[in-house]
Amino acid sequence: MALIDFQMDNQWLPFTPNRHFLKDPRVFVAADGMHFTTPDGRQVIDGISSLWCVGAGHNRKPINEAIKQQLDTLDYSTAFQVSNDKAFRAAQMIADMAPGDLNKVLFCNSGSEAADTSMKVALAYHRARGEGHRNVFIGRERGYHGVGFGGMSVGGIPANRKVYGTALLPRVDHMRFIHDPVNHAYIHNEEPVWAEDPLLELEQRILPLHDPSNVAAVIVEPIAGSSGWYIPPKGYLKRLREICDKHGILLIFDEVITGFGRMGTNFGADWYGVVPDMLNFAKCVTNGVIPLGGVICRDKLYDQMMKTDAPEHVVEFFHGYTYSGHPVACAAAIATLELFQREQLFARAGEMGKVLGDAFHSTFKGLPNVIGIRSLGCAAAVEFAPIAGLPGKRAYDIFLDCFKQGTLVRPAGDVLVIAPPFIVEREHIDRMVNTLADAIRRHA
Ligand SMILES: Cc1ncc(COP(=O)(O)O)c(C=O)c1O
Repeated sequence: MALIDFQMDNQWLPFTPNRHFLKDPRVFVAADGMHFTTPDGRQVIDGISSLWCVGAGHNRKPINEAIKQQLDTLDYSTAFQVSNDKAFRAAQMIADMAPGDLNKVLFCNSGSEAADTSMKVALAYHRARGEGHRNVFIGRERGYHGVGFGGMSVGGIPANRKVYGTALLPRVDHMRFIHDPVNHAYIHNEEPVWAEDPLLELEQRILPLHDPSNVAAVIVEPIAGSSGWYIPPKGYLKRLREICDKHGILLIFDEVITGFGRMGTNFGADWYGVVPDMLNFAKCVTNGVIPLGGVICRDKLYDQMMKTDAPEHVVEFFHGYTYSGHPVACAAAIATLELFQREQLFARAGEMGKVLGDAFHSTFKGLPNVIGIRSLGCAAAVEFAPIAGLPGKRAYDIFLDCFKQGTLVRPAGDVLVIAPPFIVEREHIDRMVNTLADAIRRHA
């Protein structure tokens, strides 16, 4: 099929420079394993698991078959007042995988919906226990929690926020960013150790400013994925947990990227040994093939919400989506989680992540304009000095170059990330890293 077999006038592309895209389109028509196929039959290696989703690789038969079978059995049923068998089974499997007493799964369809859902649970929970005044949320600079108004407000990526003005939620604050570009530019499969404590700012400035008794929740990604794989200092999440506990503040981990294997463990929470009060997930839970997201809540949140004086016919939490726990999505999740388990793909992600990190550091260090390299879990990032006056252009140009050479990488500002499917082989890593190195040299 040639590119001109379809016209491109009608799709407004998300998070894409549309004007440039139309001059130089990138389109896929098929995918299998580690590769996409373009309309002209070229193979492109999926270096980013299709935006952190496709942990098990593309076109996995057990997932496809489960979906087809579900379509022929129960295609859809409403989620309100009734439910379906697959939603209960998927919730059970997810809760079994989650640490601590994270046992109650509220389904939605995306990471953005998970962010907003978790924030609404926080407000409802505090109100139910007589602390309705707790309505301050704290996020972090350069955090990403999707594009709903809640997630965007606690998010900290300036470009995503700047045109929305007072439509952003009030009573939101942000902790400082967790990257030290001078002392920790290069992080090689380890946690950076900071001399100073970046959470002093939370304790000594942000919480006193709002008064901790007014704070509903703190939300963070265990590792800041969308802004460019930024890794928190050693001990950071444990201390954040302690601070939240001390003040009765809920801790939400947004694990839309770190959940389901990316760290070589079930969740980032397991890798860091910290149990949040809510854990948001999406993406890898269905291997990306069908939208599904959710929030796993600790028992205490659900139990509190059920402790109501309202008569039994009254809904306890007025929230939900038409497609919450969609049977086809949940069938896909069940098959995906079984596949991850059967093929031990999380352990493999941990092993191949080390190979990827080694390749990044040994290949890119010292190349022109490279000012940082970070690797941990099954992802690695290389950061470039921006072109003066044109932030993001260097990484974008290198991304385009890599695509032409058959490798899909992920630009985030002046960072490029590779986060491959967990089925990645050494030869794929060599190919992706060499392609990226050549492109970096060409754009010196
Ligand atoms: C940490 C995090 N939260 C939320 C989202 C938003 O997810 P979605 O695009 O499915 O709404 C993303 C997407 O990349 C994410 O990385």
